[in-house]
Amino acid sequence: MDRYAVIGNPISHSKSPRIHGLFAAQTGQALTYEALLGPLDAFTATVQAFRAAGGKGLNVTVPFKLEAFDLADRHTPRAQAAGAVNTLVFGTDGILGDNTDGAGILRDITVNQACPVEGRRVLLLGAGGAARGAVLPLLEAAPASLVIANRTASKAAELADEFASFGLLRPRGCGLAELAGQRFDVVINATSASLSDAAPDLPAGLYAPGSLAYDMMYGKGDTPFLRSARAQGAAHLSDGLGMLVEQAAESFTLWRGVRPATAPVLALLRASL
Ligand code: ATR
Repeated sequence: MDRYAVIGNPISHSKSPRIHGLFAAQTGQALTYEALLGPLDAFTATVQAFRAAGGKGLNVTVPFKLEAFDLADRHTPRAQAAGAVNTLVFGTDGILGDNTDGAGILRDITVNQACPVEGRRVLLLGAGGAARGAVLPLLEAAPASLVIANRTASKAAELADEFASFGLLRPRGCGLAELAGQRFDVVINATSASLSDAAPDLPAGLYAPGSLAYDMMYGKGDTPFLRSARAQGAAHLSDGLGMLVEQAAESFTLWRGVRPATAPVLALLRASL
């Protein structure tokens, strides 16, 4: 059977083996998918050993996405733009690095949440790896505007500048306080604030009527960001569980050439949070 895995550190909490196991059963694909603990000082050696043992591909999670980028021989344009890799494909002609995170969030927002991005005002909060991965897919979805806002304003400005020459809409970068007086239709939290049980410190009045507040993090019940968005009048709220399932589906499709249905898998995961 073809062998796949997710590599990270820590990894025991990962939902990816369950998700890919459900995808494989649903599509009748004969494969195994396991969780691989990558030693912090031996990512490359662990990947090469997995490949040498017949592995066909890997998902890569924290903290190895940058090392995976360096390890890949070739990159998809979206991995190049993200500067990080979450999916490796082992071929006879070397290792392909892809990044399916951005496509995953776009699909969750536009398909699962039925929330269009095209022609709408989008705010992306954060300027770290999670935010970076979402910029190109968001720009390709042709929003009316894209503002990247970060606690450290200079990092948002630098990230926005990187995408100025893509021939797409030019994003604007700013600090959080500079958002005062602006309104958005889609607000995406790509900060890691939830990890410390906090929400980004945002000015009031950001949510336009009918707007979606989307948190890349997920958990049982509202995240701190979604709690504050609810209080601020966001019309629709979504956490990032759907993004997790959609990025997995995108990787699965790349590896197997078959797109699994995500809705039943998402429902199962939601029920067991
Ligand atoms: P990731 O790879 O998850 O994006 P990261 O690269 O460490 O992680 O980036 C974390 C992001 O969350 C940064 O944009 C950070 O803002 P700073 O650049 O100012 O550090 C943001 N962040 C973390 N905690 C935050 C908080 N409490 N409020 C607002 N932003 C926060």
